[in-house]
Amino acid sequence: MVKLNSNLESLSENYLFVEVARRKQEYAKKNPFAKIISMGIGDVTLPLSKVVVDEMKRAAETLSFKATFKGYPPYEGYEFLREAISEKYKSLGVKIGTGEIYVSDGSKSDASNILDIFNRHSEVLIIDPVYPVYRDSSIINGNKVRYLRATEENNFLPMPYEGLLGDLIYLCSPNNPTGAVYSKEQLKKWVDFANQNRRIIIFDAAYEAFIEDKNLPHSIYEIEGAKSCAMEVCSFSKSAGFTGVRCAYTVIPKELEVNGHSVGKAWLRRQSVKFNGVSYVTQKAACASLTSEGKKGVLECISYYKTNARILSEAIGKLGLWHIGGENSPYIWFKCPKGMTSWEMFDFLLREANIVCTPGSGFGESGEGFIRLSSFAAHEEALYAAQRLKELKI
Ligand code: MLT
Repeated sequence: MVKLNSNLESLSENYLFVEVARRKQEYAKKNPFAKIISMGIGDVTLPLSKVVVDEMKRAAETLSFKATFKGYPPYEGYEFLREAISEKYKSLGVKIGTGEIYVSDGSKSDASNILDIFNRHSEVLIIDPVYPVYRDSSIINGNKVRYLRATEENNFLPMPYEGLLGDLIYLCSPNNPTGAVYSKEQLKKWVDFANQNRRIIIFDAAYEAFIEDKNLPHSIYEIEGAKSCAMEVCSFSKSAGFTGVRCAYTVIPKELEVNGHSVGKAWLRRQSVKFNGVSYVTQKAACASLTSEGKKGVLECISYYKTNARILSEAIGKLGLWHIGGENSPYIWFKCPKGMTSWEMFDFLLREANIVCTPGSGFGESGEGFIRLSSFAAHEEALYAAQRLKELKI
């Protein structure tokens, strides 16, 4: 008899952003004249830069000729893109070979699919609150999930301690949703903990391009010892605006082994069974975003979103609400007033200000009582939202 994976029963009915979209649609249907501003899901709004689009066109053109046509891409990605990524690491003072880089369609897929290569009995440690994909994927997979609470008291940057359980450790820095970033000293403690206790860190650096503090690490490999205990996922989504184009990569150093088995080899074996690679056009476009012209485009977009973040932070501050974020990340994280729950505040903001946000509780229990606002919007929308926020009676 066919049965569904019973682990699915342990998930909430909808994925967080599906639920946010459902409530938004329901409200829009009942209030057709409301001008709703979306600051929920962190989806980029600025168009792709010219250098990226020009490269896409050129790449597409080459596919129209017999001599330059291409079929299946290599499972691990084209060498030209892996070389460009390797150069990016070099600029951080980190040596990562092209054979340690695996190109994919998204860091969401990689952060989730990576569980395939580990034993189902491996326990997963998750910082709470955090990007819900780690938790939901672990549950679907049947892994036991352990939580480490991120709170105001630990500046939303919890640290390891003796006796802390969890074989696989998801760290997201800059953190989604709080925007908190681990310092080099703090990451060193995680790396030492993982090496001493034979744990593996899955480091999600999807928001590294937003870091402006020069002392903060963009990659876990800036930390000595990380290559023997950590893999890193990163993406072109939030930097080059590829949420719709789809391109990302995972770094698995040669030194990363489990009981003498190469983790990178296991990942490539998994990918070659379940994944057919990223299109040539997309990889060429991703490569263009790493050229000096491409990097200029990335910086311009990030500075645009950061201006929005400043506008929103100021409005939240004027309301007298505790808040962080928006400096090294695109998200602002603030406390709900008067003991409201996250979903109560979500409904309140939608009803009274027509602003869609993301309820903190969707990122984990410790997110209850908080709200995340995304700065991925047009300046006019950010200004409009700020005005509405300032006028709120709370
Ligand atoms: C978010 O809003 O947290 C992200 O956009 C979701 C994602 O990257 O998948």
